[in-house]
Amino acid sequence: MSMMGWFSDALARVRNPIKALQSCCSQHHYRIQNDASVSSFVVSRRKRQNADSTSVSVVSSSTSLASVSSTVVTTSSVATNTSSLAVSVSATGSFVPIPTPSSGPAIPGVFPATSPKTPPPVESPGLVPDFADAWASAYKKATAKASLIVASLTLEEKVNISSGTTERCIGNTGTARGFPGLCLEDSPLGVRLVDFATVFPAGINAAATFKRSLIRARGLAMGQEHVGKGVNVALGPMMNLGRVAEGGRNWEGFGADPYLAGEAAYETILGMQQAGVQACAKHFIDNEQETNRMTESSDVDDRTQHEVYALPFLRSVMAGTASVMCSYNKLNGTYACEDAHSLTRILKTELGFRGFVVSDWGATHSTAQAANAGLDVEMPDSRFFGQTLVAAVEAGAVPEARIDDMATRVLAAWYFLGQDSPAYPPVSFDARDPLNEELNAHVDVQADHDALVREIGKASVVLLKNARGALPLKRPRSIVVIGERVPCRATVARADDGGGSDAAPARVAGPNEFANGGGVDGILAMGGGSGTANFTYLISPYEALQRRARQDRTSFFWFFDDANPRGAAVAGRGKSAALVFLQSWSREGADRPNITALHAGDALVQAVASTNPNTIVVVHSVGPLVVEPWIEHPNVTAVLWAGLSGPETGNALADVVYGDYNPSGRLPYTIARALANYPAQVSTSLDIPYSEGLNVDYRHFDATGIEPRFEFGFGLSYTSFAYGALSIRDVRPLAPENDRQLEESWAAGVRGPMGPGSSTALWLHRAAVEVSFEVTNTGSVHGTEIAQLYVRHAPSSGEPPSVLKGFADVALAPGRSKRVSIGLSRFDLSVWDAVSQTWVRPAGTIGVAIGASSRDFRLNGTLDI
Ligand code: NOJ
Repeated sequence: MSMMGWFSDALARVRNPIKALQSCCSQHHYRIQNDASVSSFVVSRRKRQNADSTSVSVVSSSTSLASVSSTVVTTSSVATNTSSLAVSVSATGSFVPIPTPSSGPAIPGVFPATSPKTPPPVESPGLVPDFADAWASAYKKATAKASLIVASLTLEEKVNISSGTTERCIGNTGTARGFPGLCLEDSPLGVRLVDFATVFPAGINAAATFKRSLIRARGLAMGQEHVGKGVNVALGPMMNLGRVAEGGRNWEGFGADPYLAGEAAYETILGMQQAGVQACAKHFIDNEQETNRMTESSDVDDRTQHEVYALPFLRSVMAGTASVMCSYNKLNGTYACEDAHSLTRILKTELGFRGFVVSDWGATHSTAQAANAGLDVEMPDSRFFGQTLVAAVEAGAVPEARIDDMATRVLAAWYFLGQDSPAYPPVSFDARDPLNEELNAHVDVQADHDALVREIGKASVVLLKNARGALPLKRPRSIVVIGERVPCRATVARADDGGGSDAAPARVAGPNEFANGGGVDGILAMGGGSGTANFTYLISPYEALQRRARQDRTSFFWFFDDANPRGAAVAGRGKSAALVFLQSWSREGADRPNITALHAGDALVQAVASTNPNTIVVVHSVGPLVVEPWIEHPNVTAVLWAGLSGPETGNALADVVYGDYNPSGRLPYTIARALANYPAQVSTSLDIPYSEGLNVDYRHFDATGIEPRFEFGFGLSYTSFAYGALSIRDVRPLAPENDRQLEESWAAGVRGPMGPGSSTALWLHRAAVEVSFEVTNTGSVHGTEIAQLYVRHAPSSGEPPSVLKGFADVALAPGRSKRVSIGLSRFDLSVWDAVSQTWVRPAGTIGVAIGASSRDFRLNGTLDI
């Protein structure tokens, strides 16, 4: 079919939406995927510079489009009869962003964020931030400000902006006239490689709180510390999912569920950028194991990619992330940093990302292919960019327009955060030379963040077992703390043997004994690798518990030799309670060889439980452990899952152990009975098919009927909660005319629009349904329930049995009730249709289940939408 014939055929099929727009349209913009396998199209109207327009997006049935080249077709007149449309075709051959409008009348459910420094309030999680105007003004400055206009820069200068170097930060961009360059610095839990900064609880602990307010506050505080040190781009948050339980970096991220990880990424970025630092959402994408991370290909189908692995990045874009880091691995055979499908098609087009893409350190493998695919900055050097990129432009292998786009994106991100202000702090450290007095001003940026660290620490402890009311401790006459290992130093540098069994301070050289957390001696409070920071102090459980125990005049003992279970059993004898500490450490660059406790920790628990009827196990682990050897032992009365909670780890634990804080943490991943029960394991193959598809973590256990030991979302409290009075209502805020059309089409199961920003469009993300219910504290102490909402689609949808789509923390005094509302957007209820390449409502009834975990449903209902 000729282009024209095909095009009018396409329009004929969208007659109604066109008609609805006729009264106001003055200009139409049609975006066509110019691809031989084009099979479908959609139409949408956008308001652009005060003129209404209609875009028609035509997409390919092929899910592996190598190119995103597009054609913009413009019509000069509006026709009642679509077949008589006069169409003039102009091929642009490149992506032309059409920003989502934020000017104009307020749209209900939308928060017009004029700057990332004024994000929507955390109390209204359903409010969709609209950063379009803020981005538009940043782009305007980047392209138009006289001294910095991209057009005024030479090719070399423009390329320099995109070329990495290592100055005083872990990476720096080059400079240009009027642009001082950017300082990029790790990490997702603090400012790395500096002094006088806070080590925050790891991402996995932030997620385990299931508390948006704490996740946002953590992002804000980390952002403030990065700004205080003069960092422009903080290299986090990290949002890979932990597809495999043994993943060496799972602790840096937000757990194994895409929705939880997405919400945590969203809140973290809103907080970080509120402080003024550029966030960097990483690692895009499918960087799910450390084994062969530089060479393996993650082979992921399109639907899984959209619904699972891209979801946290979609939420990051919605939070206005200024940058995204592409990952080391390959995607379906192509290196992630030179993959046009993920970078330009998914990230920059579907998600409408307007910031810049930076390569992971050394993840660039080509010049023209990477630049044309959508990579904007190479790090940490200019092996492939720099002069080589200049030459590639001169040879015609890379259009200069692409270089302009790259430079504009970097400058726009800088303006977006207001970092062009003379008041923005200069870099005050040298990450590689921390003792050089000329280069290190030793600025103390910690403020009072220790209080927040402790708050997150205690809110992230998950109580997994509590038999016979073992916890909280009630003025016991004696306790013994058991853990550690003698000697621990010789073995610590290996990923499979990460040091002691916890509880006590480092025996040898203080909290930073191992650079970059590259080993652990004593209490485990973070993992290893680039996702770390330097401790300024570290309070161990041994110290905190002893101090607290003395308030009750409790006799306090310890036994720190986990290589001697017999001695531990003797130490446990006769004590009112024996607290046994286990750990499992891992680091960037290696996965865990198994998911059992280090240092024969299981034998240690068994030994202590053989003599002490009140054995309480405390686990500091980077991820799941198999706890089968002892979990049902009658003398193991309680288990606390404490993660990696940073320098206040001892105090936070003591708060929970003594009941000063009633545990409210929830598991951000499933704890299985055996490693083989998980949907996937670390693979040594260089081609890793993600054959479990959508069924990651709990979804696999639900779909296959495998009993986990502790399911995703599980966690006990010292009190109990009841759920009731479920009510479901449609939210029908006044919507712009076009949105109403889209909403109606969506409800009818008609595919939605596809085009720039179509996956993050406001109409798709505004709340469509409000689910509300009552939670009552039926116990005798104050506590916080984490109410969770799971969506249950009809089996014909191909979705997992239940999928997390909402959560809320509800703090209640004993006997009190509170009504909780959770909004669901059309996006929350959609599935990705790989054929039409859009988000659609699957056929059939949509159910919701509300409860206390992914398996503990207390209320069930159906949506009428
Ligand atoms: C490699 C890591 O994968 C990435 O997360 C980090 O930001 C860079 N190195 C810089 O240290």
